[in-house]
Amino acid sequence: MDHFDSIGRRVQSGIYRAGARGRRPRVPATPARLEAAARRRMSRPAWSYVAGSAGQQRTDRANRAAFDRWKIVPRMLRDISVRDMRVELFGRSLPAPLLLAPIGALGMVRADADLAAARAARSLGIPMIISTQASSPMEAIADALGDAPRWFQLYWSANDELVESFVRRAETIGSGAIVVTLDTQMLGWRTADLDIGSLPFVRGQGIAQYTSDPVFTRLVEERVATPRTTTEPRPRPSPGAVRTLASLARAHPGGFLRNLRSPLPRAAVETFLEVFSRPSLRWADLAWLRDRTELPIVLKGIVDVGDARRAVDHGVDGIIVSNHGGRQVDGGIGALTVLPEIVEVVGGRIPVLFDSGIRGGADAFKALALGARAVCIGRPWAYGLAVDGADGVAAVMGYLMAELDITMALTGCTTLAEIDRDLLRPDA
Ligand code: FNR
Repeated sequence: MDHFDSIGRRVQSGIYRAGARGRRPRVPATPARLEAAARRRMSRPAWSYVAGSAGQQRTDRANRAAFDRWKIVPRMLRDISVRDMRVELFGRSLPAPLLLAPIGALGMVRADADLAAARAARSLGIPMIISTQASSPMEAIADALGDAPRWFQLYWSANDELVESFVRRAETIGSGAIVVTLDTQMLGWRTADLDIGSLPFVRGQGIAQYTSDPVFTRLVEERVATPRTTTEPRPRPSPGAVRTLASLARAHPGGFLRNLRSPLPRAAVETFLEVFSRPSLRWADLAWLRDRTELPIVLKGIVDVGDARRAVDHGVDGIIVSNHGGRQVDGGIGALTVLPEIVEVVGGRIPVLFDSGIRGGADAFKALALGARAVCIGRPWAYGLAVDGADGVAAVMGYLMAELDITMALTGCTTLAEIDRDLLRPDA
């Protein structure tokens, strides 16, 4: 699909027509109901991981509050009978200014999580940003995406060779960009996960890009071949430990029974924990990546004007204003709050994208009005996945597009170019 003609009316009337026959949508349109429906279908560790944020969850709340500080001022009598939400990014025309944000470890929610999301993106023709922490190898996700655009999100590993391998693979699967996430040099202080002692990666969940990588596999084999002396006593077997063992054996490539007896699954987790990130990363290191790929480089996690200026000065191709949905720093500034000043300092030299806190099409509209070229959708699609798999992701993204389309129409806009700051007013 390359164009959504009146998607708002189509989605709306589809739901009302089914309603007249006594059928309600499986996926709620009210964001709070969607969240509640997802929660009912998720285990406690999955819910904590997906919904949880850092510390006292204040950045997450600030993300939402920032949207409420801007009010939309609709305009009348402008012939809004035909609307067009197409946008061009890095030389490719997209049907709508919405992308699936990279979300890791969704294997906790459903075994085929990333493949289901890819099928949804394919059905809508919208881009998926494939996570470094996905639960399926990027090649399999790319197959499920068909012709839909895909970008690869990179967590810059401590191991150069592994970074190069990820980038090569991303090129091979036809990525339109490399999205380097900067805000997760270490995991945030995620209280909901800490309270239950749950980290998906330790159970082998969310490390499929690694276990399918030739460089990583070699590192794991080397680790297994090097005997380590340990002074720690062997932990006594417990139900929790057995569950972890089973999860490791299930998540690791190869057969379950063979994996149960093999040292490789656990060595893979240990290797992953060692190479996951590079806390020493600096601005100057971007040149190293620039030398290794011609793909557009997009920096995700910028929330400061000075950093935005630095990003432009270092020749990157785009930025995503984002605070990772409040999952990294507690008490942080709402991402939308900083969007206008960052858009101003970037001055149109590179596209500025946005995420963190978008729950409906009107939120997307506000971010676009404040200068975002496109927006990434995070938790809502994960909730759609929990409720109804690929159909759930497609439903949630369809709702967002429909509401954006309807908001455009009702405010007097027929193209994205017309959605500007004049349509918003700060709340007193
Ligand atoms: C994320 N996010 C994320 N970002 C990234 O660059 N790589 C990743 O692997 C992940 N993983 C991830 C897991 C989960 C469960 C969540 C909720 C988020 C951050 C994501 O891309 C995006 O920035 C946020 O989701 C935006 O915030 P909201 O709108 O979801 O609150």
